[in-house]
Amino acid sequence: MNAYLINNEGVNRFYRLNWDAVSNFPIPMVTFVDNHFLDKDPMHLNKLSLVNFKNYADTVLDLHPKLNCFVGNNGVGKTNLLDAIYYLCVCKSYFNVTDAYSIKTDEDYMLLQGEFIRKNKKEEIQCGLQRDKKKQFKRNKKDYERLSDHVGLLPVVMVSPADIQLIVDGSEERRKYINGVISQYNRNYLDNTMKYNKVLSQRNRLLKDLKGKNTQKDLLDIFDDQLIETGQSIYQERKHFIEKFIPVFAKYYSFISDGSESVELVYHSQLHVADFNDLLKNSRTKDLTVQFTTVGIHRDDLVLHLEGIPIRKIGSQGQQKTYLVSLKLAQFEFLKEVKGILPVLLLDDVFDKFDANRVKQILKLVGNEAFGQIFITHTNLDRMTTILNELAISHKLFQVKDNQVKEIQSTH
Ligand SMILES: Nc1ncnc2c1ncn2[C@@H]1O[C@H](COP(=O)(O)OP(=O)(O)O)[C@@H](O)[C@H]1O
Ligand SMILES: [Mg+2]
Repeated sequence: MNAYLINNEGVNRFYRLNWDAVSNFPIPMVTFVDNHFLDKDPMHLNKLSLVNFKNYADTVLDLHPKLNCFVGNNGVGKTNLLDAIYYLCVCKSYFNVTDAYSIKTDEDYMLLQGEFIRKNKKEEIQCGLQRDKKKQFKRNKKDYERLSDHVGLLPVVMVSPADIQLIVDGSEERRKYINGVISQYNRNYLDNTMKYNKVLSQRNRLLKDLKGKNTQKDLLDIFDDQLIETGQSIYQERKHFIEKFIPVFAKYYSFISDGSESVELVYHSQLHVADFNDLLKNSRTKDLTVQFTTVGIHRDDLVLHLEGIPIRKIGSQGQQKTYLVSLKLAQFEFLKEVKGILPVLLLDDVFDKFDANRVKQILKLVGNEAFGQIFITHTNLDRMTTILNELAISHKLFQVKDNQVKEIQSTH
């Protein structure tokens, strides 16, 4: 298939990708260029400070506006640095569901601070977390009333080996993924999912307390109304999102696989076929018996199809990887379009399995202005240094060792 690819000098070329000839893991090999990106804000993180965050006691980093590479052996804390950045953008860890795991062992609190430049303005973001206390987020020294007010201010996309969970795990991972993307551009959606989940757990608790008896009907009715109100809105937004997202995703997948495979994201929801109100009414007896809520948008799924079959069942490792990368690149482009800001891109361990030439190709492309600020982790210092020295992309290189991060190279 044909597509535009931007080369390192920023020149658009009409290009036919022969995937095998370029790379089998095309993180930023492709970018579909419409030149809209030129008026997008290249937001970046200027300074990052970590106190008692995971393995870091007290670390401050001055970052490069374009490319930052963290190099070090396995287990030294490279991924943790990317997670700290993700945390400041999204108010939570990409990896740990439990906040306390982000606090350094044997410490009582952690503090993350980031100085971002967004729309040419400085944004000081601070996150403080004490064990067993509510976490606090501040923007320019002012407390947020609700964390959801912060989500979406600083769009971010993480590409990580852990993404494979989207394919192999249950539907909850995929709902979380959809929720995460939509929440970055629709604040109302995030509020609704939080309200929905709260009412859902209250309703489930009541169903348990009732032990199959059909009493307290009024209270169940109230919960049902609240579920319907938020659930309908979540459903509509998910539907709308998937419709808009699919073509972007399919474009990337097709480009990467040279158009030879057909892919789909299929949104499954009980609400496709029936009104939520009717679903709840009709399932009440069953819900009372099984003591939980059997219908609703908490049962939605996003099925990843390849050639009409769920990729979990037939995809090779290569296809699964391509699928995930396409999802993340589509997410990057999608967020860029809806927010008018180039998201920060966090590439964790994506180069481990590639030869130097491929890493070079990838870095050439992310060096282009179609991408904003990028953070990359790599285990091999020699390989990374050689590549960076050969390339003309300005960057900073950091060595991660003994719970410290040291800047060892910087170009302008
Ligand atoms: N809460 C914590 N307190 C102290 N150390 C932590 C905490 N969470 C993770 N770590 C440490 O972080 C290290 C892993 O960091 P990670 O960023 O995944 O390494 P890398 O990406 O360089 O392989 C491990 O040594 C682990 O013990
Ligand atoms: Mg890692």
